[in-house]
Order: sequence, then C-alpha cells, then structure tokens
Amino acid sequence: MLSPSATTFRIFSLLSVLALTAACSRHTGAAGGPSAATSTARAAPSTPASNNSPLAHGAELYTRYCTLCHAKELTGYAADNAPSLVSRTFLDSATDSFIADAIVNGRPGTAMGAYGKSRSGPLDDNDVHALIAFIRSHGGPAKPLPGSSLHGDPVHGSLLYHDECEKCHGSESQRATALSLFNRALLATATPDFLRYAVVNGRPPTPMPSFAKTLTPQDIEDVVAFVISKQKAAGPVVPQEVPKDLPVVLNPKGKAPKFTLRDERFVSAEQVKQALDEHRRLVIVDARSPADWITFHIPGAISVPYYQAKELERIPNDGTWVIAYCACPHHASGAIVDALRERKYPHTAVLDEGILFWKSRAYPLAGADTATPTPVPPPPPLPAPTVASSATPKPSAARPATPKPGATPSATSKPNTAPQPRTLP
Ligand code: HEC
Ligand code: HEC
Repeated sequence: MLSPSATTFRIFSLLSVLALTAACSRHTGAAGGPSAATSTARAAPSTPASNNSPLAHGAELYTRYCTLCHAKELTGYAADNAPSLVSRTFLDSATDSFIADAIVNGRPGTAMGAYGKSRSGPLDDNDVHALIAFIRSHGGPAKPLPGSSLHGDPVHGSLLYHDECEKCHGSESQRATALSLFNRALLATATPDFLRYAVVNGRPPTPMPSFAKTLTPQDIEDVVAFVISKQKAAGPVVPQEVPKDLPVVLNPKGKAPKFTLRDERFVSAEQVKQALDEHRRLVIVDARSPADWITFHIPGAISVPYYQAKELERIPNDGTWVIAYCACPHHASGAIVDALRERKYPHTAVLDEGILFWKSRAYPLAGADTATPTPVPPPPPLPAPTVASSATPKPSAARPATPKPGATPSATSKPNTAPQPRTLP
C-alpha cells in the first residue's frame, strides 16, 4: 500500500484529470445543459419545467438535487461518504435499476435521502430516468458482469473484512470515510457480482483499491459472502407524507435560548437538547428529504428540504432562533442557513455534526423508525498541528468528550485516506 499522503496526492491528481474529462463530455454531450450545470443547487424554486431533452433535464435535476454532495463533476465527496457516480467501474457494474433504486429509496440512515415520489420525494419516474441518462452520459451503459463458481465462506470473510476493508468502510456501528457496505437498502439491490466487481477492479480514481493482486479469488469470494450475509430483510416501504399542519415555532410562549455558536455558525447538539428540555422558543428545520423526516427527526422539527428553500417563508422572521440540521452533516443544513441569512433572519445556526451524531447520543427522536441503529459518523480529521504547547487540541469546542457507542479505538485512530474536504458551505 502507498502511504496515505501519497495515495491522497495520487487521488487528487487523478480526480482533477477526471473532472476535466467530465467537464468536456458535459459540454459536448448535454446540448443546452451548460446553463443548468452552472446554476447553484441552493434555494432553488420547485420542480423545473421538463420541456427539454432528457439529458438536459437530467443535468438540471442533478444540479438542483445532487451537486451538493456528489459534486458538480459527479466525482463525489463534496460531502462525506458521497461516492463518485462516474468512475468507469461503477458505471460498468451498476445497472439502471440499481441506480434508480438508490435515487428513489436512498440509503436510510446515511446522508443519501430518498428522492422518489413514492417516498414523498420530488422525483417521478421520468425524472429518475433523466438523471440516469445524465449520469450515463459521463461513461456508458452497464456491462454483463463475470460470475464466480467459488463458494464463499463468510466467517473467513469477516476476518478479511476486518483487516482489509474496515478502515475505509467502517463496521456496522461505526462509519469511516467510504460508503457503508452494511446499509440495508444497498444490500437489498447489490448482487454478489456487483460487489465482487468492485473488489476485483477497485473504483479508480477513488480510494477504493483493486484487490485482484492482494487477495486470492477465494479470499474475495469469502469477503463478498461476508458482506452479503449482512443483508437484512428490507421492511416494506410505506409511502407516507409529512403532515402539512405541524406548528412551525416550538414552545411559542417560551423564552429565547442562549446559544453560543462555533465560527458564528454551528450550535452544539448539547445546547439544542438543553433548549428543548427547557421548553425554549425556537424553530428546528430538517433539511433532508421528507422520507428521512418520516423515518426519524428531532421532535418538533419541520421538514424543509434543502432544495425547497422557498418554504422557509413559513418561518416567522421575528428574531426567533432557527436551527437547521441534516445528515451529511453540514451541507444541506448549511444551504438552509445561508438561505435564511440571505433573507435576513437574525438568529440562525447549523446543528453541529448533524442528526446522525444527535441520534448516536440517544437524544430524543420522533418518527416511524427511531430504533434501527445507524452507524456513527467518523470523527472529524485532527487539525494540523499548530503551536507545540497548545494542550489537547479538539477540532470543535462543541464536540463532547464522551466516547461514542460502538466506537472502536482502531477505527478512530486510523488516518483518513479518502479525500475528505469537510467543506463548510
Ligand atoms: C446530502 C448528500 C447527498 C445528496 C444531496 C445526494 N446523495 Fe447520493 N449518496 C450520498 C451518500 C453519502 C451516499 C453513500 C451512502 C452511504 O453513506 O453509505 C450516496 C449514494 C448514492 C448512490 C449509490 C452509489 C453506489 O455506489 O452505491 C447513488 C446512485 C446516488 N447516491 C445518487 C444520487 C443522486 C442521483 C442524487 C440527486 C438526486 C443524490 N445521490 C443526492 C449523499 C448524497
Ligand atoms: C482505502 C479505502 C478503501 C479500502 C481499503 C476498501 N475500500 Fe471499498 N470503497 C472505498 C471507497 C471510497 C468506495 C467508493 C468509491 C466510489 O466513490 O465509487 C468503495 C467502494 C466499494 C464498493 C462499491 C459499493 C457501491 O455501492 O458502489 C464495494 C463493494 C467495496 N468498496 C468493497 C470493499 C471491500 C470488500 C474491501 C476490503 C476487501 C474494500 N472495499 C476496501 C474505499 C475503500
């Protein structure tokens, strides 16, 4: 293995090459698309008109709903864990129905929301097909995948997983830098052939290496068998809607909370929990997709997805504190706070570390499924060492010292090898 810094360097140079290629193919491929591709995803009005070609429509939808995390060039990692949608080996192995399923149902318990109309999202079948056409325009159609006649041993596979994969993919209870392979929606659609293809070929130019030279075909079969063994029966999808008549302001008669913000932008989970306990007057905005709100949300939070910032007009602009949160953990909520600040709301903040951190602390939640455990997000990268004398640097003053449930020491002490910009919007 290369050293982390060499790997990161290589990834970034490869990423920029890919970014250029993708930019070129966008301009030649999506006639009429460039204007959509350059506009911003934030604060967009409701669904766009679809009187243009599927490709241009797909580009427009991508800009509105996906750029935030998967990046303008579709190369991923604008937000934590969001994979590339245009690596050659992904496009070769992911069928249209795999991609459609990911878009419609999302990856519950991660930042990837459900966007299908059937899940209270904004996209109908036409939109999903247009998005897939746009994604495919950066590569090609899926190819038939090689199978394997070997029989995998999941017990041996679990040992290999621990040694070879966990540092990037995390465990069932602890996330790391790469997407979660234990997500039940992923495992409901991923076939052994799809998983094996990624392990054998890697996902250049992302950090996902090819194991063709480092593991035997039997080892690869074993690790695939282990991942597949985690498949859980996905419960039935119950289409539900977010109730329209929820009160916007919590505790309208309560006193205003006293929040101390980090970087004039982030409020800690503790402070928000305390404000709820003390029945303070505030507004909490869930910036994720409505399906995510339905699954679980902070009690009393209203649903205003990051792509429907116009709905913020429901919030009184009278000095009431407005806290926004998402799962990614700051991108969608950051877009909402920016939109509020543009509209001159005086007291706004992003919930630091987002809802998955809140959930990991066992703070109160409401919704249809608050019980299914969610892998904990990784800790932020340590800040670059500064003055030698500064005592125990903490990346965020707001981050509590309590160890997270299920956190393994090895998972937290490993260096991050995936590009992890953690940009604050
Ligand atoms: C808020 C961030 C965010 C947004 C917005 C978002 N995604 Fe994702 N997406 C993710 C993350 C994170 C994952 C990986 C899930 C995990 O963490 O395990 C993912 C996974 C996926 C996957 C599965 C890829 C694979 O290799 O299995 C597809 C396909 C996808 N997203 C497409 C989209 C599309 C299309 C849109 C826009 C309609 C979109 N996403 C919007 C964060 C996001
Ligand atoms: C150095 C970090 C790293 C290691 C080690 C690693 N992976 Fe990955 N893996 C990734 C990243 C990052 C992705 C997502 C790449 C992308 O953006 O498409 C990924 C993607 C995958 C995918 C595709 C999933 C999907 O939905 O698209 C599979 C399957 C996978 N890895 C399995 C494994 C297995 C099994 C191992 C151990 C044998 C392993 N990986 C080791 C970083 C890693």
